[in-house]
Amino acid sequence: MSAKIAFLPGDGVGPEVANAARRVLTQVAKKHDLSIGFNEFAFGGAAIDACGDPLPEETKAACLEADAILLGAVGGPKWDMSEKRPEQGLLALRSALAVYANLRPIQVAKGMEAHSPLKAEIAADVDMLIVRELTGGMYFGKRQEGKDKATDECLYTRGEVERVARIAFDAARKRKGRVTSVDKANVLATSRLWRNAVNELHASEYSDVELDHMLVDAMSMKLIQSPSAFDVVLTENLFGDILSDEASVLSGSIGLAPSASLGDGTRGLYEPIHGSAPDIAGEDKANPVGTLASAAMMMRYSLGKGEIADDIENAVAKALAAGRGTADIGGKDSCTSFTDYICEIV
Ligand code: NAD
Ligand code: IPM
Ligand code: MN
Repeated sequence: MSAKIAFLPGDGVGPEVANAARRVLTQVAKKHDLSIGFNEFAFGGAAIDACGDPLPEETKAACLEADAILLGAVGGPKWDMSEKRPEQGLLALRSALAVYANLRPIQVAKGMEAHSPLKAEIAADVDMLIVRELTGGMYFGKRQEGKDKATDECLYTRGEVERVARIAFDAARKRKGRVTSVDKANVLATSRLWRNAVNELHASEYSDVELDHMLVDAMSMKLIQSPSAFDVVLTENLFGDILSDEASVLSGSIGLAPSASLGDGTRGLYEPIHGSAPDIAGEDKANPVGTLASAAMMMRYSLGKGEIADDIENAVAKALAAGRGTADIGGKDSCTSFTDYICEIV
């Protein structure tokens, strides 16, 4: 079997972590009957510099034809206030691929509690899956930007809520059977639509799953107070962006957190949840684990190669348990030396 991967390294630490994942995938595929073709394309700030467009047509077309897309990260201070920004390319890509469900698993593995900024007994046993709606809400509403007045529209349709809620309920059935839906229904109309749509889908098709609702402000508190209480957390685009960065550090570093963005088919977009980390870019300090774990999710969800995903995840877990790791989790490894070790043991 062969797999066609669109490879988008992006900006800052993006190329460092994306190349780490490419090396590990190339190594582990040798053991299994899989040949992986990586085709690299310009994306983000690098693409703005090269051709004035963060998502060039060629890159978009290749992503739409690939089995899966592996992405590092985009953005950086160089483009922050410019008219064309790398982040616009990322949003356009998610929208073009129609990957409306962004899965962000957050786990604190046994023995890793010591890396958490929380007390070990609070961080222990954290194992949640954040399901973030990814192609709607305020990220994609109309914007008006004036010098003295600006608006960002937040719009959701019932259909958009139902399809992502379905993903969350289905995931819960394979996990601990609980969904916490997070909104701001005491203020926002879109949140009341969200809550009604989730409740009605639950009543008609998923009454075997335990469902509760939480307001986003209370949720941001509970995530710190009792993070192990959560199983699947379902939420809209902007809340999911913020809550997943917060949840990621329960494990010690945002550099550990992976993501998979999926739509109705098997094609998916895989990227760590962190950004281009300009403060450490070019220093070989970035933690590649979030991207390695994203590559594992790519093998499982888009290529049906669960055994390769298991190999990558087991190698990473073994390395971390042996005290290997980059500086963000108190280790001595560089991005390269950690990746070398994974390539040896995978
Ligand atoms: P960031 O996630 O890049 O960095 C936040 C902090 O986490 C920094 O201190 C950084 O050093 C650290 N960090 C991030 N990844 C790490 C890793 N792999 N290993 C060790 N430490 C890591 O967030 P930011 O600084 O707010 O954003 C920087 C740029 O990245 C912005 O332009 C933003 O728009 C962009 N961004 C892109 C994506 C993406 O491409 N998916 C995601 C988030 C932010
Ligand atoms: C993420 C990032 C992006 C988002 C930015 C870079 C547009 O923060 O993937 O979490 O907000 O979705
Ligand atoms: Mn984010």
